[in-house]
Order: sequence, then C-alpha cells, then structure tokens
Amino acid sequence: MENISTAYLSAEGYVDRLTSELEGVVAVHDRLVFTDHPLQSVYWAQNVWLNPIIVNINSISDAARQLKAIQSSWILYPVGLHRRAAFIEEKLPRISSPVLTFPDSPPRSPLGSWTLLEQNLLVASSQCTSPFPNGEIFFEEDKEGPPSRAYLKLWEAWTLMAERPKEGEFCIDAGGSPGGWCWAMQQLGAQVLSVDRSPLDKKVGRLPGVEFKKGSAFALQPEDFDCVDWLCSDVICYPEKLYDWALRWVESGVCKKMICTIKFQGEYDSQIVKRFASIPSSRVVHLFNNKNELTWMWSGEPPEATD
Ligand SMILES: C[S@@+](CC[C@H](N)C(=O)[O-])C[C@H]1O[C@@H](n2cnc3c(N)ncnc32)[C@H](O)[C@@H]1O
Repeated sequence: MENISTAYLSAEGYVDRLTSELEGVVAVHDRLVFTDHPLQSVYWAQNVWLNPIIVNINSISDAARQLKAIQSSWILYPVGLHRRAAFIEEKLPRISSPVLTFPDSPPRSPLGSWTLLEQNLLVASSQCTSPFPNGEIFFEEDKEGPPSRAYLKLWEAWTLMAERPKEGEFCIDAGGSPGGWCWAMQQLGAQVLSVDRSPLDKKVGRLPGVEFKKGSAFALQPEDFDCVDWLCSDVICYPEKLYDWALRWVESGVCKKMICTIKFQGEYDSQIVKRFASIPSSRVVHLFNNKNELTWMWSGEPPEATD
C-alpha cells in the first residue's frame, strides 16, 4: 500500500466487475479498490478518489487534526476498526447526506473521502469525482405521482448532465411502462410519446401532453420524426440491439439528446459498454439508482455528414 495513486469505490455489489476493469490493483478493502496507476476510465465506480495519500496518525485527535489541516469537508468510507473510525469522524465537521429536491444542483463544495485501514494509518483523498458522500445521491421522492421509482434514474442522469427537457420539448420514452420516466418528463412540461408493449399506468396515461403507443420501441425510426429533443430508453433488451438502434438515432441528426439504460441479464459484456462509451459526446456511468445496468448519456451533436 505504499504506492497508491487512485482509489475507486464500486457500486454496491459490483466490486468484482470494477476490479476487472482496473489495471494495477494493489489492495481491495470492502468496496474500495486501490491502484498504483493514474486515473483510469471505469464504469462500475460510484466515486473515484483522485489523490489518495497515506496519513500516519498517533491518536484519534491527531487523525482529526491532520485531516482538518488539509480541508474541512470529509466523508468516511468505513472498512473496519469501526469504533475508532467513528471517534475520528465525530471530531470532524459534520457532513449530512444532502437530500436533493429535483431539479436542484448538486453541492458545489469539495468533499474529501477517508478510511481507517489500521489503528494508526488512514488513507485520505481531498479530491473525489462525486460531490455526494460516497457517491450516494438521494432525492426527495414523490410518493404520489409516479407509478414506479424508476424516475429516480432519470432525475440522477439529468442532474449529472446538468440538462433536462424544457417545457414544450418533444421526448420519446421507450419502454415506458408503467410510467415513472414518462411522469418525470411530463412534470417538466415536455410532450411525451411513450412506447411499450404493456400499457401505461392509467393515471400517467391521462396526463396532458402524454401520448401512448403500444408496440416495440425498436419500430420507431428517426425517419419518422422531424425533431426529437430527448430520446430516453429504459427498454429491457440485449445491449447490442439497443446499441444499433441508438446509433441510428445519433447518426440521423434528428435527435438532440439521449439517455439509455444498458441492461445486463446474462454474462456481462464489457466490449459493448466500450462501444457505447466511444460514441462521441457521450458517457457511460453506473448511477446510484442503477442496479445490474449502466446508463449511457449522449448530449452531443450528430457527426458531420460526409460526401
Ligand atoms: C424497466 S421497465 C421500464 C420502467 C419505466 N421506465 C418506468 O419508469 O416506469 C422496462 C419496460 O421495457 C418494456 N419493453 C421490453 N421490450 C420492449 C420493446 N421491444 N419495446 C418497448 N418496450 C419494451 C417492458 O414492457 C417494460 O415495461
């Protein structure tokens, strides 16, 4: 553990998948994976520690003093020695988990992460990729309107993109039933075409601005539309099928932005994930609200047409 360069906190339950994505792994503590390599692109991390350092401590107060000397905001990721770690935590300024009211922006102040590995040794990283404690994003939930909690994925994706549908924009909601995503788009004032083989929840289907089409989302093609502001897909399907369909929309120039859930049922295929990630102006992440799935977000311009 002398030579650590970056550390990656995996999404819950996916430490093996994260470890297989990484080069130079030197230690794994619970969900925290240390490497001796500079920053690497990974998909299954919930937070990345960008500049971890080893801090030798001689007491609880000394640990808190040394951390506070670096910066004021720290969050503990506990991997053991829980009592001692909790005592150190008590001596640090209190960080409460922010509960976001969508569409509020994420916190701006830097949040460092630390963990106690041995009685007198902790690792601390003042810079992390997520502004949320251990990458966990909690929203104030709406228990009345949406018929499923899937809308939390869309809220999280829009929060990360710092963009969302505007009033009057046209959105396609592929694989929309029972209607959590549809509800989230409609609440922003968008016009939503929801497509699914199963019907929408009646309450959502009756909302103004919502149109439902029964059938396969893959029957929808860019040629059938003049302009789609957002195409969002939560369809359960093979990632390859989704990739081919999504790429057609990207290349068409008809669609402005896309969010698609890439779902894995059988064996995990890292190659298809890399193909999604290599589409310009896009990124693939494991949202805190994702399960055995990743989210592909595309906010780019279509490629220039060539003669
Ligand atoms: C995870 S659910 C979607 C949840 C939805 N986003 C929400 O917020 O309530 C996946 C949906 O994909 C639909 N589905 C599966 N294959 C489809 C296809 N080829 N075309 C359209 N919908 C499909 C299923 O019927 C199911 O309703």
